Amino acid sequence: MKRSTKNKALITGASGLLGLELVRCAVKNGYNVVGVYNANPDLTDKNYRNLKCDIGDIGSVNFLDKKVGKIDAIFHCASMTGIDKCENSREVCWQANVVGTRNMVELAKKHRAKLIYISTGSVFFGEKGNYKENDTPDPKNFYSWTKLLGEEAVLAYDKGIVIRVVPIGIHSIGRPQANFIEWLVDSVNKNKSFNLFNDVYINAISAKTFAGILLKIPKVFKKGVLHIGSRDRLSKAEIGQAVISKFPNFSGEAKLISVESMPGNFAARPKEMWLNTNKAVKLGLKMPGLKDELELILEVIAKK
Ligand SMILES: NC(=O)c1ccc[n+]([C@@H]2O[C@H](COP(=O)([O-])OP(=O)(O)OC[C@H]3O[C@@H](n4cnc5c(N)ncnc54)[C@H](OP(=O)(O)O)[C@@H]3O)[C@@H](O)[C@H]2O)c1
Repeated sequence: MKRSTKNKALITGASGLLGLELVRCAVKNGYNVVGVYNANPDLTDKNYRNLKCDIGDIGSVNFLDKKVGKIDAIFHCASMTGIDKCENSREVCWQANVVGTRNMVELAKKHRAKLIYISTGSVFFGEKGNYKENDTPDPKNFYSWTKLLGEEAVLAYDKGIVIRVVPIGIHSIGRPQANFIEWLVDSVNKNKSFNLFNDVYINAISAKTFAGILLKIPKVFKKGVLHIGSRDRLSKAEIGQAVISKFPNFSGEAKLISVESMPGNFAARPKEMWLNTNKAVKLGLKMPGLKDELELILEVIAKK
């Protein structure tokens, strides 16, 4: 069979918030896309080719390798993401985030494929904010440690790119509780009372906008670490209040608290999580405003 002339992109996390957006965006941008999911086939877009693989299991990765054929680029978005879940299920988290990423590095090496790995702004301690790519990481929780170890594995590969970012949004197929915005919407819909952190600042970016930027990165950046995020920052409380404003019938209480007032069984989190994006801007990548990003997400919520 004649091989397609399109670049083949393997996108891990295709059943997750970012991976799903990226699959759709990459197809629109002319890639031959293969999405990878693990436990949730129903959360992938059935219009495209998706394969099951537990990236932490080498047998599963070898099986994927046989099925997928030649790969030109791997966009590695899969990760165990729940911070408290990671803290309490360390072996599962280690297997997915550290072993899984090492396995993706080996797969990329075998194909001489570009490897674009999605990391997080929480690799930093979160005291000062405005973190640059060469600032010293100092993770506060197990999840962030595993993301940092994933970075190390990716950076040891000569075609490895690490993107630190905080993507936000609503999974378009629908999941109740998987990330901050989804948890908020689910809580508001159920009229539950909850806490919002008024001292955790992020320059998050919507998964949809980020997917578009992500596809441009390998064209302008060949190796190393790059920070992506909105031009401005908001606290999680400000973002939460904007979401709540779309639900006039909400009768629960959203209490504004410091992240430091959470009990000891709650994994520690950085406060000033926002990233300096000057390096990306110098490469010609355009960063959006956070309020515009929030509007995009609120429009999706309003249509649900
Ligand atoms: N969302 C955030 O707040 C945030 C903030 C900073 C950075 N990030 C980073 O951004 C990236 C994308 O996050 P997201 O919000 O899109 O994540 P998400 O919605 O939680 O999705 C996680 C994805 O990872 C897959 N996955 C987990 N374990 C796996 C395994 N062992 N093998 C194969 N796939 C596995 C899941 O597949 P199944 O569901 O099919 O099992 C799912 O597709 C991640 O690298 C994350 O660390 C996210």
